[in-house]
Amino acid sequence: ETMKSVTGLADMEKRVADTLQVQRVIIVPENSDRYSWVKKELGRACVQQMKEMLVPDDIVAVAGGTTLADVAEMMTPDSNFNNVTFVPARGGLGEKVEIQANTISSTMATKANGKYRLLHVPDQLSKETRESLVLEPGIKELLRSIRHAKMVVHGVGAASTMAERRETKEETLDTLEQKQAVAEAFGYYFDKSGHIVHKEKTIGLQLDDLQENQTVVTVAGGASKGEAITAYMKYRPSDVLITDEGASQAILGLL
Ligand code: G3H
Repeated sequence: ETMKSVTGLADMEKRVADTLQVQRVIIVPENSDRYSWVKKELGRACVQQMKEMLVPDDIVAVAGGTTLADVAEMMTPDSNFNNVTFVPARGGLGEKVEIQANTISSTMATKANGKYRLLHVPDQLSKETRESLVLEPGIKELLRSIRHAKMVVHGVGAASTMAERRETKEETLDTLEQKQAVAEAFGYYFDKSGHIVHKEKTIGLQLDDLQENQTVVTVAGGASKGEAITAYMKYRPSDVLITDEGASQAILGLL
């Protein structure tokens, strides 16, 4: 297996963009399932996009996951990040602290010389708790920032991988299996047609609230995520997809 030339990747970017109906696709070489440095390259490419697209005083909502953790790791300051605020997109989803959206927002902000706000809510909230939490003044204000985010940056995972990694309730696992979930993003699960089949109960960004003027940047690579990325983009094609060759080959049906 030889590595594609730069022109080869440019051609692949166009084909993936056409297939998924995504405006801008950036493909980094290789497959992040095989080499961990590829995920860092996804991170680097994502940071570059953020520098090009953000302007001072913007708000960026970031999700969790190992890919986003690598975006944070690759973050460096930029004049466009002046007074930019990083906020977590949603509350706890049962992940380890290192890859929670809160941790990622604070790391990104620190490395970008920006600001951050945290969303302190436990995982698996009851309906009553959620309803009273969103009335707390501090949380209310943060939720307003999330709604006003200029950009949302998030990962996508294969449904089974994500459900296993988080401590998912038996009942939820049954739903995911029954409804044939293949993709996960922000705690939402999707079937292969891009329909939402389950939503983890936390507060923060609600997918159906996303506005046209908000830029959604999806960062996800690895051949094992090809099906998940394809399904998720059927729900709502993102404005930017940053992925790798491995995932792209799967998306294009070349594997
Ligand atoms: O929410 C997490 C994402 O769906 C994927 O996580 O970047 O660790 O694969 P990952």
